[in-house]
Amino acid sequence: MDTTATSAKRFAGFPHVLRAQQFEPEDLDVLFLKAEQIRRAPSMAHGILEGRRVAVLFEEPSTRTYHSFIEAAERLGARVRGEQHMAAFSSEVKGESVGDTVRTFLCLGVDYFVMRRKAEGSVERAAQVAGTRHPVINAGDGAGQHPTQALLDAYTIWRQFGTLDRHLHVVLVGDLKNGRTVHSLVYLLSKYPNVRFTLVSPDSHRMKPGIIEHLIEHGRTFAEHTDGSLAEIAAGADVLYVTRPQLEREADDAARQALLDRYEPFFVTAELVQGMPPDSIVMHPLPRNAELPTEIDADPRAQYFQQMENGLWIRMALLATIAEGMRSANSR
Ligand code: NCD
Repeated sequence: MDTTATSAKRFAGFPHVLRAQQFEPEDLDVLFLKAEQIRRAPSMAHGILEGRRVAVLFEEPSTRTYHSFIEAAERLGARVRGEQHMAAFSSEVKGESVGDTVRTFLCLGVDYFVMRRKAEGSVERAAQVAGTRHPVINAGDGAGQHPTQALLDAYTIWRQFGTLDRHLHVVLVGDLKNGRTVHSLVYLLSKYPNVRFTLVSPDSHRMKPGIIEHLIEHGRTFAEHTDGSLAEIAAGADVLYVTRPQLEREADDAARQALLDRYEPFFVTAELVQGMPPDSIVMHPLPRNAELPTEIDADPRAQYFQQMENGLWIRMALLATIAEGMRSANSR
């Protein structure tokens, strides 16, 4: 499939994908259209990564992101080496640095890296070692960012509303301090001046100060709430983006219990969703805990399973865009 016509412009930081801020609205237009093309005719994308080796290396738990990347790379024709247990079984246990891990896979002929790391910023370090001929994609770095989740989230919102360039009220609820998906999503959606944010969380787990400063610097409209007014807020939402408590980021059992105790006012209920506008959507990156009961699954506003499917198409579109960009760089 020749999709080069729509991918002439390269996104900032090409070929690496480390932060959501790298993508401008024009880049997203190209990616979304490419994802639409691929989902309509998936077999036509086969071969874009023919002859390429992709290493998918994870050191934190994952079901969706890990398998979605493997599926995306394989459907594009790549040979994929997946390792989901880096933290337990790789030489990292023996103290190997991320740089040496990257060098090891480069020696084996790996072309692309998809990495999930525990330490914030560590995928950037991997990208520095890999250099510009070997793309590195951040599939989640600790409590930092998860840029491809933001791409699939933005794609889901775009599919619902037809554009991101309109007045949209996006309500993000839960552990906004440590949830990397909401960090990336706010950075990405803040590229659109008409998107308005309401950030709802326990006081102890408010959105990171750096992201709040980013919203202020860019003149974006937002409000923060730390009380139990979620139902009222959700009644005026276009998007309700729900997140789980990131218990694994807490220091000890006492801190985990304290977070759980504070979380209940931020649970979504079937009644709350029924009070939302009919064309609004409820999103969640998954996995979910008690904050999103299964009763909501049958509600037409529930989009979290759709998000997962959209993740496959957008990751195929992203990998294809990178492959085409690499090819045109090499032929210059
Ligand atoms: C998220 C993650 O790993 O950051 N899951 C995902 O990738 N879909 C969300 C989470 O773990 O809470």
